[in-house]
Amino acid sequence: MTAEKKGVVLLIAPVMDMLLNKLDENFELVKLYEYEKPEVILSQRQDDIKAVVTRGDVGVQTSVLEQLNNVGLIAVFGVGTDAIDLDYTRSRNIAVAITSGVLTQDVADMAMALMLSGARKIVHGHQFVMDGQWANEPPALGTQVSGKRIGIVGMGNIGQAIAQRARAFDMQIHYFSRTAKPELPYKQHNDLTALARESDFLVIAASGGASTQNIINAEVIGALSEQAWIINIARGSLVDEAALIAALKEHRIAGAALDVFNNEPHINDAFRKLDNVILQPHVGSATHETRKKMSETVFANVDAFFMDKPLPNAI
Ligand code: 8YV
Repeated sequence: MTAEKKGVVLLIAPVMDMLLNKLDENFELVKLYEYEKPEVILSQRQDDIKAVVTRGDVGVQTSVLEQLNNVGLIAVFGVGTDAIDLDYTRSRNIAVAITSGVLTQDVADMAMALMLSGARKIVHGHQFVMDGQWANEPPALGTQVSGKRIGIVGMGNIGQAIAQRARAFDMQIHYFSRTAKPELPYKQHNDLTALARESDFLVIAASGGASTQNIINAEVIGALSEQAWIINIARGSLVDEAALIAALKEHRIAGAALDVFNNEPHINDAFRKLDNVILQPHVGSATHETRKKMSETVFANVDAFFMDKPLPNAI
């Protein structure tokens, strides 16, 4: 370790260059993903690794943390902590910091983009023009979005940002949330099947993790109409993907526009064979502006930790 570096940081997965370079200038980095036998480097560095940096979609395995004797911080590039065992981190007093507040608008924008792309057949229309079909046949008709019913699953920051956008589309806003939000002028449902019955667009914006695993199940999907769309910008784990694929195959719903999946990036092959889906590679927060802010936020938290200052974004 060179003298001017402030400490040793374990990097679980690759991060964008902007963050990597800034971390590298200030800390000694142990890049776990570069080691064929991670357990060897972890045992060599078990005492001097003090902080971990990971991505929201990757998290960190408890078995890795168990090998580190003096780790005090996990800084997440993202807001999702579903891939971290928070009971374990609490039991060891390991702080967790996320990139709160900086990606909400982008993810809400993506939800609207997916909803509009699906209903208005933007991808199909693009392909139709590219294929030179325009002069040969009339383009397909889409489905109106304005004035329709949106059912938002999860009314946290992202859910509320989606609702704000839906208002501008004169949509009727319904939602499911575990905590009551009487201050919001939208219709709350305590039951997801009831929400699905009232939704032309069911938009999933809740956190992943054990408590929400497969909550969008066959029964909920079955309560949607044949004209309804499912939009997911949250986590694949919230959806029973087998039930969704079956409903899409049989055209029991109009379509699904998905930014997130189980087992990313190795998604269930069946999705690629469907003609009523829009699939995105988990890019809800992937804009130049937001990824820059996310990088700065991760760095600020790691730096504060090593400088013994309060963490700006601890959960
Ligand atoms: C990121 C995310 O795409 O915030 C999260 O939890 O999943 C996303 O914003 C991801 O963490 C970066 O890979």
